[in-house]
This record gives sequence, C-alpha cells and structure tokens, in this order.
Amino acid sequence: MQEGLIERSLASWGGEMLITHHDSLTGAWIVIAIHSTRLGPATGGTRMKEYPALADAVADALLLSEGMTLKFAVADFPRGGGKAVIAVRQGLDDEARAALLRQYGRLIRQLGGLYETGPDVGTSSADMDTIAQTGAPYVHSRTVEAGGAGDSGPATAAGTLAGIRATLAQRYGSQSLRGRRIVVQGAGSVGAILIGLLLEEGADVAFTDINPDTVRLVRERFGARVLSPDSAFDESCDLFSPCALGGILNETTIARLQCGAVAGCANNQLATTEDAERLRRHDILYAPDFVVSLGGAVAITGIEALGWAPQEATSRVSRIVSNALRHVFDVAQSEDVSTTVAARRLAEKRLSERTDA
Ligand code: PHE
Repeated sequence: MQEGLIERSLASWGGEMLITHHDSLTGAWIVIAIHSTRLGPATGGTRMKEYPALADAVADALLLSEGMTLKFAVADFPRGGGKAVIAVRQGLDDEARAALLRQYGRLIRQLGGLYETGPDVGTSSADMDTIAQTGAPYVHSRTVEAGGAGDSGPATAAGTLAGIRATLAQRYGSQSLRGRRIVVQGAGSVGAILIGLLLEEGADVAFTDINPDTVRLVRERFGARVLSPDSAFDESCDLFSPCALGGILNETTIARLQCGAVAGCANNQLATTEDAERLRRHDILYAPDFVVSLGGAVAITGIEALGWAPQEATSRVSRIVSNALRHVFDVAQSEDVSTTVAARRLAEKRLSERTDA
C-alpha cells in the first residue's frame, strides 16, 4: 500500500478512531479524532479554520486529541481525549457556517456520547449553542442564556496564571509576579485575559499578536507594551508565555529565546518531541503545555457534568495545575528527564491505573 501523509500520521498516532465527513454544501471537512476513552468519553474542543489540505487538518486533530487525553489524565479527571477540526474553505458566510455547525452537531449526535465537545480556536460559546440545537450530547461551554457555563477562556487563563506562578517558583525561588518580565505571545480569548491578570499581580508585561485590531484593543484596555510578532522570541524576559497557535518552539526559535522559563496556554507548543530536550539544553525550564492549559476544559466540564460549584472551579483548576507542575518539576529533576517526559509519565500512570481498576 502506498504511504501518504494521512497514513503516516495515523500509524504513529496511537489513538482509537478517526471520523471524517465531507460537507458537500460548503466543501468543508469535518474531522473528529477519538484519541482515548479509557478515563471517560473523549472530550475536546472544536477548531475551525482553513488548512492547506485534508492531511494537515487530520494531523492537527490527531495531535490535539492526544493533548486532551494528557490534560484529563494529568488532572485525574474522568474524561478521555478527543478533538474535532473543521477545515473550512475561504469566504464562508454566516448562514453556511451555521448549517455546517448543525451538520457537525448531527454527526456528534450519531456518535451517541462517545465524543463531547467545547469551543476552541475559531469557535465560540454561541457556536456551541448552535451545535447543541441538533440534540448533540454533550456540548460544553454553551452560553449562560442557553444553560451552559459560558466561555472557557477565564478558567484557562486562571489555570495558566497558576502554571506561570509554579514555574517562576521552580526557576527563581519565588512565585511572585511583582516586577517579573513576562512576554505573552498571542492576545486572543485566553491571552488577553491572562495579560490582565498578570498586570494586576504587578508583572511587567509585553505582548504580541498577529492581528493589528487585537493589538490595538488590548493596548487600549491594559496599556501593556507591544512587541512585533517576530521580535517576541528575542525579547529578554523572565518567562515567555506562548498563547497563540502551536508548533512555535523549534530549533530556530529556541536558540533565539532570551528567557529562563516557558509557560503558556497554546496547545502543542513543541514542533517536535526533541524540542523538549533542546529547551533543557538551553537551560530553559519548560512547563508542559498540556498541564498549563488544562484549566478551561476541566473547569467547564467539571461545572457542567460533575456538578462543581462555578465559583470554586477556577480555584480548583489552579490547584490542579500547580500541584501537577510541582510534581512534574520534581520528577524531571530527580530522574534527569525533560519536563515533557515527566508529565507524560504522570499521565500514563493515571491511564494505566484506571485500566486495572
Ligand atoms: N479548547 C479547550 C482545550 O483545548 C477544549 C474545551 C473547552 C473542552 C471547554 C471542553 C470544554 O482544552
């Protein structure tokens, strides 16, 4: 059999199944990756954007779904990992977009509870309402008006702040943000909230975003210093916080970094697995992305499916993130492995404990 890109990424994935659907009306591809249902229904956000080809959308869904398995396992939370990618064509109007989301909702309904979703890059709580109207179980993070827990951004940002504190404590011996120079890459739905929280704690924040409107809005709101998207990697700081898209830590960018630590909420920050070692060699403490960013999915699913009190959810996820990171940093140090290896071991231990039960 000829090996194409899709075969290659699927063969090395290690997940349970992949569902694909072509929407003939809009030409979009819907890709749902069920990575693991060992701890519970496969749960993860819906990413909607343009991709060069189906193979790229599939590769993204596979990687992101594994990230969700790791998040829930590290948090010791009863959900498995899944993720959906909707690869859209350019110039999709509102009506076609809503029809596409309903088509996606019907697909989730057909899966009968195997897969639960929430928002991600390119989708919102209002989109979750549209998907839920099809009777799809379970659609997390719907608007409060529609009976959901609303936007997951604030909980993700709170978890990220806790992750930054734990990383600063490990690296510099104090978790205080006062006077700490932090560079935030990406001021989107989580990054912007994080910038506000960091400034409130007295940090010296510089940020960047590829969207000029976002830069203007965030600068007007908080008055934080702006960096050009490319120069963010060269800025001298205590901690670099990637909060945009994934794959940004690679051989070239790691060599440019002028920081002692990296902790941010973007998914899949490392371009390759070797980059974890590369960061270690450059003496940069890396807080694994799937630990730092677990706050949104865990808080929202906790509130909506496990009956957590909404006012307690953010402190709960902050505790989960800092405890997990402390453990990861300890294991990385005592066993002389990268923090990513240590965090994966923690997740794998939780996954194997559950299988034996
Ligand atoms: N975008 C979230 C993440 O990557 C996914 C999510 C949000 C899942 C809210 C469930 C509820 O973690």
